[in-house]
Amino acid sequence: MAELIKLCATGDVKEESPLQVSPEGYPQLSVWEFEGQYYVVDDMCTHGMAWMSDGYQEGEEIECPFHGGRFGLKTGEPTAFPCVVPIKNYPVTIDDGQVCITKE
Ligand code: FES
Repeated sequence: MAELIKLCATGDVKEESPLQVSPEGYPQLSVWEFEGQYYVVDDMCTHGMAWMSDGYQEGEEIECPFHGGRFGLKTGEPTAFPCVVPIKNYPVTIDDGQVCITKE
């Protein structure tokens, strides 16, 4: 069975209030909530050196604080210029109230 990496409790994250986490062996990740679902993406913008968790959330889209580029939380696909490279999105499992990703 795949090994789960616990990132945080579900209660630690609310819409428009993401959490940056640093699991061993991974880049900085951020955990987001939208309509009761949790999403995990690389926290570094693919356009430059900015943490997405310092930016904004509007529904299922997150906006970079530097140049306003956006990504969809569900797919990681860019949705607003200047972001053109997808941000890595990690499948999430909720286990006993914890937001987890599967160890790669
Ligand atoms: S650094 Fe994120 S849009 Fe430019």
